[in-house]
Amino acid sequence: MKKRVFSGIQPSEVIHIGNYIGAVRRWVELQNDPEKENIFCVVDLHALTVRQEPEKLRERTMELMALFIAVGLDPEKSLLFLQSHVSVNAEGAWLLNCVTPEAWLKKMTQYKDKSAKQEIVLTGLFDYPVLMAADILFYDTDEVPVGEDQKQHVELARNIAERFNHHYGETFIVPEPVIGKVGARIMGLDDPTAKMSKSSAHIKGHAIRLLDEPKDIEKSIMRAVTDSGSDIRFSKEPEKAGVNNLLSIYQALTKKSAEEVERDFANARGYGDLKKAVAQVVIAETAPIRERHAELMKDRGELTRIINMGTEKARAISEPRLTDVKRKMGLIV
Ligand code: AMP
Ligand code: TRP
Repeated sequence: MKKRVFSGIQPSEVIHIGNYIGAVRRWVELQNDPEKENIFCVVDLHALTVRQEPEKLRERTMELMALFIAVGLDPEKSLLFLQSHVSVNAEGAWLLNCVTPEAWLKKMTQYKDKSAKQEIVLTGLFDYPVLMAADILFYDTDEVPVGEDQKQHVELARNIAERFNHHYGETFIVPEPVIGKVGARIMGLDDPTAKMSKSSAHIKGHAIRLLDEPKDIEKSIMRAVTDSGSDIRFSKEPEKAGVNNLLSIYQALTKKSAEEVERDFANARGYGDLKKAVAQVVIAETAPIRERHAELMKDRGELTRIINMGTEKARAISEPRLTDVKRKMGLIV
């Protein structure tokens, strides 16, 4: 039996190299694995957990769907869909809300971080992990490939599945988080002690955005914070975090071993050489994506056709499970 894989990404802000290395690029590899059956979702309902400008959200949602395809996801091979177009996800989240103790949600570290930054914390932000659990569970998912930061949310989905199964009988598959070994946590170029994040992507020099022009990519990398030394090696020492991060990006994109990467820089004359080499591999990887993306964005009709195809397929998978859950919980179906 093939393993069913589910993952999602929000159309909030623009996608950066951390999202690419930690998530989307791994999805393309999964697509080519004959042992996997893949579902990838643009989670627009999740984006609503913080305030969005409606027109911008719509535009970024289209952009993200086009980006899926530009990076190499194929709507014939993987199921690509838009979360808000399949009501099972939101409806399923409500049903799961009614088996999830509030205390579990209060423990979520991402919620604590995000809510501390908001003047008004929306209920949706608090409940966001339950919607994510519904995304995962109603599609009978075996594996959830995500970056390190989402691991706790997948564990919550496991707990919800187990609790539901315990109360109502075997229903949900208990999913496994799958965290990549290399590049699971790309750090900000301006502050290598903090994760590169979408919410800071607008800050100059923080992120490498996937659709940035080559000259801007080069500029941000050349300005990346390093240290006052010249030693180019992987290291967990806090003062080497900047160099370590650049090496991690380089390693993730070249798929070399840590030893090979360090060997590549054995004769470098300093961090300038390292930065140039990193900029080169990043540009080589992103320039073709950027071009394909621009082409795809010109044909909205085709994008809409792809979205509608995904909606149909996603409904066919998740609706039977929703009916099953409703029946078990005592609703008339
Ligand atoms: P987000 O940007 O939080 O919507 O995350 C989308 C996906 O990218 C998730 O699978 C994250 O785990 C992953 N991700 C986000 N930021 C990073 C990062 N700095 N390094 C690696 N993966 C990341
Ligand atoms: N919460 C995830 C993030 O912000 C996105 C997401 C929503 C997701 N639903 C999912 C990821 C289901 C994996 C599986 O990155």
